[in-house]
Amino acid sequence: MSKVYTDKNSFLNENSALNTGLPYTDDISVLGEELTVGGTVFKNRLACQAMEGCDGTADGRPDGLTRRRYGRFAKGGAGTIWFEATAVMKEGRANPRQLYINENSLDSFKRQVEEIKKTGMRENGFEPVVIMQATHSGRYSRPDGTPKPLIAYNNPIFEKESPIPESAVVTDEYLDRVGEALIGGARLAEKAGFDGVDIKCCHRYLNSELLSAYTRKGRYGGSLENRTRLLRESIKGAKEICSDKFIVSSRLNVYDGFPYPYGFGVAPDGGTEFAPSEPAWLIGELYKAGVRILNITMGNPYFNPHVNRPFAAGPYTAPEEPLKGVARVLNGTAELKKAVPDMKLICSAVTYLGTAAPNVTAAFIKNGGFDIAGFGRTAFAYPDFANDILKKGGMQASKICIACSKCTEIMRSGGTPGCVIRDSETYMPLYKKYCGGAVK
Ligand SMILES: Cc1cc2nc3c(=O)[nH]c(=O)nc-3n(C[C@H](O)[C@H](O)[C@H](O)COP(=O)(O)O)c2cc1C
Repeated sequence: MSKVYTDKNSFLNENSALNTGLPYTDDISVLGEELTVGGTVFKNRLACQAMEGCDGTADGRPDGLTRRRYGRFAKGGAGTIWFEATAVMKEGRANPRQLYINENSLDSFKRQVEEIKKTGMRENGFEPVVIMQATHSGRYSRPDGTPKPLIAYNNPIFEKESPIPESAVVTDEYLDRVGEALIGGARLAEKAGFDGVDIKCCHRYLNSELLSAYTRKGRYGGSLENRTRLLRESIKGAKEICSDKFIVSSRLNVYDGFPYPYGFGVAPDGGTEFAPSEPAWLIGELYKAGVRILNITMGNPYFNPHVNRPFAAGPYTAPEEPLKGVARVLNGTAELKKAVPDMKLICSAVTYLGTAAPNVTAAFIKNGGFDIAGFGRTAFAYPDFANDILKKGGMQASKICIACSKCTEIMRSGGTPGCVIRDSETYMPLYKKYCGGAVK
């Protein structure tokens, strides 16, 4: 297992040695500052990122473990809770316990949002901003537990070992229906009391896969306008159907790490370096469409998780030092902020920074690199990270996520992910049940 940055000094030494170019500041007070976007006030610069628990009921309502997770997040003091991937079409569920918003399940989502808001007010004196992530899982659809891929195009990189028939490529008419369902999901999210919706476009789920659909024919493939059509039109539709105060956003993959013609945010020369021109264009178009805040991410959790969530131990040995992965996401986000400075941005992939995460993200925010620091796996391991940062001056080494990937192992084994190490009473038995092992 490589090193997790459990103390700031080790981070500083290693970081300068690696020359990752990450800034650092001792003054983290900016993380406690409010941010106003449209009419919405974000009480601080810390967010719990979208983290799926795969623990809904069979018909897609939040269940006991879901409510427990959001109770912990709400109590923890983050100004924003980016509510996990929530399906808007049954066949687009990523697993049989993925949340699924529809007219029948709406009452349960209402109760869930109310609980989050009440808990935040009671514990911290404010209601966090809660944004629902509306999704169609596309290639990764498993509505009944077995793969039922619905893909934007055949991709030899992903399909080398398990080919997918051409019949799984969805038609333009199907994509039109996905757009309608995403817009319907936005309307339901507002009815449920969420502050906003995220038209999910990341991690190579359907909308995100379209971004690199260079080889696809028809209205959703080929040109940049076509590849971004589903996202842009869903956003436009959601803005039309929802009230002005409702936030319409997206969690956007600006780079996925695969070469042209199978990756987004790369140059057409076959390289895999981040090339910001297409993502910057897209962010500019979304700004013109009225979007004022985006949640930026990179990578694919199935094929290159070291890009998506740099880890200390994972399914393979990462081909790069994890801090390089963190730097790619944070510096890439800052590059896009420079291109469209008026768009507010939330960053991703900070968990591997350990106790140095507040110092690094505060430095980025002060330098104008992004606006809110989004914490993913940390939210599972250390749900009160925000209160510790804001009220105790930093994160405690004994509480941080050790980036061991056991939460993902549970998820990949068909179970309900959570932190096996820091929330062991609840999740160690589940780890043993689904992954069969003792923790190494
Ligand atoms: C168990 C698990 C569930 C996740 N669920 C979602 C999700 O529902 N939606 C999403 O956009 N990202 C999801 N992610 C990705 C995280 O939000 C985040 O981008 C990633 O973990 C990197 O951030 P970190 O380094 O702070 O953990 C998930 C990650 C994990 C490990």
